[in-house]
Amino acid sequence: MKVALITGGSKGIGREAARLCLKEGMIVYILGRDGEALEETANLLDPEQKVLFSIQADVTDHLACKRAIDEVITRHGRLDLLINNAGMSMRGRVNETTPEVLEAMVHINFLGSAYMTYYALPHITGQKGSIIFTSSLVALHGVPKVAGYAAGKGALTAYTESLRAEVSSKGVHIGIIYVGFTENDPKKVIYSADGSLMPLSKRKNAHTQQDVARYMLKMIKRRKKRMVLTPLGHFSSFLYRFFPNLSDWIIARFNPTNAQYSEAN
Ligand SMILES: NC(=O)c1ccc[n+]([C@@H]2O[C@H](COP(=O)([O-])OP(=O)(O)OC[C@H]3O[C@@H](n4cnc5c(N)ncnc54)[C@H](OP(=O)(O)O)[C@@H]3O)[C@@H](O)[C@H]2O)c1
Repeated sequence: MKVALITGGSKGIGREAARLCLKEGMIVYILGRDGEALEETANLLDPEQKVLFSIQADVTDHLACKRAIDEVITRHGRLDLLINNAGMSMRGRVNETTPEVLEAMVHINFLGSAYMTYYALPHITGQKGSIIFTSSLVALHGVPKVAGYAAGKGALTAYTESLRAEVSSKGVHIGIIYVGFTENDPKKVIYSADGSLMPLSKRKNAHTQQDVARYMLKMIKRRKKRMVLTPLGHFSSFLYRFFPNLSDWIIARFNPTNAQYSEAN
């Protein structure tokens, strides 16, 4: 049986990806910081805990990432799929965002994925498996008030390109998915510029969490390198590529207020 490890598998998109990986007959490990959330998801997806296991770990701690991979290998002897999905967003203008928030954004969204990849790569290579990175439309073109998040997700683009160039001849699949507005977990929180946690805004979502998980699985099966989701994602990619000045002009005028952002779901 193939073995998958999904960071951020306790909630949201990661939980739906875990559900689909189980349907595909894989053994699934979900990883997150909150033990209760992990337990809740494990009970929901595999009440007998036969094919789904949880690992409580923080991806910003590289030794915890090593322990997580070691645990999977000790228990199951192989790793076929790593979905680097753990991530967290923020709101705040560049001049208001504290260095601590900036560091947290880069740590969670970029370094956490890079640490997991570093420890998983020898095992994934042995299986000619897949490593998937969950990015965001803001990595295609930064928008106001999310610079730290956009930078963390943007770094994944360059990282995956270098990684792919190094490992594709060994049969390893590297995929990056640029996710657009997706329904949020009711408990989801994000960082404000000063580091306090704030609830999410009401907004129109283009996708459900299940939709995004289905795209991820499609990407894995077809070994696709890159996937941009939502009509907005396709439109903004096209605009940025062929009309970069118009794209800059439109985005500079998109400046939502913090009040809009902080309106609770
Ligand atoms: N939802 C959207 O509209 C959207 C749009 C674009 C991109 N994305 C990206 O898609 C991914 C999933 O988003 P989502 O909306 O499903 O998020 P979510 O509901 O907030 O879930 C995030 C998951 O990541 C885990 N996590 C966060 N920080 C972690 C850390 N330091 N170490 C280990 N686990 C950590 C969380 O568990 P704990 O808190 O218990 O650790 C949770 O399981 C993220 O990378 C996000 O940036 C989402």
